[in-house]
Amino acid sequence: MAKSKTYWYCRECGYQSSSWLGRCPECGKFSTFEEETVKSTPTQSLSRSATQLGSTPKRLREVTYSQTPRMGTGCGEFDRVLGGGIVPGSLLLLGGEPGIGKSTLLLQTALAMPGRLLYVSGEESEQQIKMRADRLQAPVSDLYLLAETDTQRILDHVDALKPDLLIVDSIQTVTSPEVDSPAGSIGQIRQSTTHFQQLAKVTGIPVLLIGHITKDGTLAGPKVMEHIVDAVLQFEGDRQHGFRILRALKNRFGSTAEIGIFEMMSDGLHQVENPSQILLSQRDESLSGTAVCATLEGARPIFIEVQSLVSSAVYGTPQRNASGFDLRRLNLLLAVLEKRCGFKLGAKDVFLNIAGGLRVADPAIDLAVAAAVLSSNVDISSPSHTCLAAEVGLSGEVRPVSRVEQRIAEAARLGFQRIIVSKYNARGLDLKRYRIEVCPVSLVEEAVRLLFA
Ligand code: TYD
Ligand code: MG
Repeated sequence: MAKSKTYWYCRECGYQSSSWLGRCPECGKFSTFEEETVKSTPTQSLSRSATQLGSTPKRLREVTYSQTPRMGTGCGEFDRVLGGGIVPGSLLLLGGEPGIGKSTLLLQTALAMPGRLLYVSGEESEQQIKMRADRLQAPVSDLYLLAETDTQRILDHVDALKPDLLIVDSIQTVTSPEVDSPAGSIGQIRQSTTHFQQLAKVTGIPVLLIGHITKDGTLAGPKVMEHIVDAVLQFEGDRQHGFRILRALKNRFGSTAEIGIFEMMSDGLHQVENPSQILLSQRDESLSGTAVCATLEGARPIFIEVQSLVSSAVYGTPQRNASGFDLRRLNLLLAVLEKRCGFKLGAKDVFLNIAGGLRVADPAIDLAVAAAVLSSNVDISSPSHTCLAAEVGLSGEVRPVSRVEQRIAEAARLGFQRIIVSKYNARGLDLKRYRIEVCPVSLVEEAVRLLFA
């Protein structure tokens, strides 16, 4: 008979303990332990099971693999993030907040992909999925739907159907009978994920899991899953804006620098292949407090507008607020502007916004942030045909950024007349080669003089 054993798991990081703990020794959070009962099936002694596995050490040069091509998803933006399609036998996790469009993205992808696909939903009925598919106006495809939450039964259906790809929406709704805790608990998530991992490795059928995100922005049942899966993709965006961004937080088969950009419309998600054009076309060029930055996301330059509002603080402590940009970085840049460039911003409220609901981590945006803040502070609009790409250092120096030539070329292509870069970036470049004026600067003040003089 199967024995059952009780464990305590940390809700935040999945740390396992044989007794309740007030504070998790792994992640340091308080009161996060939950009790779970795991039915353990009797296992053979370790020495036997090791020989049964039949694995023996091999020399690296003896290991062979067949070059199975990746499965294209039929969606360029999705493929870009995956690193060129789905690798056979891989287990992928797509995370995101509720309502952001995870189900829509995967259903749409499934409808567009060739081959036999199985979409398992524990959240919606077959009729609801059909209604969504009709809304997406996709051509009739060979997609199979299954409304099921029992992992064992899902695996049985996969055995019978032998699909080319399995999609499970969502991992928080499926349960394995051998774990005695409710759906969505750490034990259940771990067990079901392990089952799907085995399925992927043994049969070579790639599995795409959907996972929800908790309030603080991490995947629910996070660490335990992140170790098991081959890639963690995150779907994010501002619900108010139509833009959605797909990025890889972990990818065993590709880069994590690439992002995919989509726009949510009434008939589903549309790929945005030329984001700069959309982001910049909504701009009113005569207003103060804006600046355009030439950022690079992965291999692709994206031009983004930074908006800022600086006003005298009415209440005691000035407010600082940034959306799409790190608040600590904003505070640091404000301190640099105050100390090195002599702008009195200490008693001002400063609000910063990245247009389109994007989130930018590229340090090349620093100078554009400084320019937007100063533009609003002096209430003079910065020239509309100028863009910026440089990092700002603590002493007010303008630092170089990666792959500046690509940014300059794209700026010229988009019709900008001037780009401000670091002096160190301009060294060794043949500036006359470009159809755009390249202005090298070494200090923030110089950039300010160029913009507002
Ligand atoms: P959904 O895929 O259900 O989100 P998730 O699976 O991440 O919870 O998408 C939810 C939102 O997307 C919903 O609020 C409506 C919107 N939506 C559109 O705007 N257009 C569409 O064609 C579809 C299918 C959904
Ligand atoms: Mg959903």
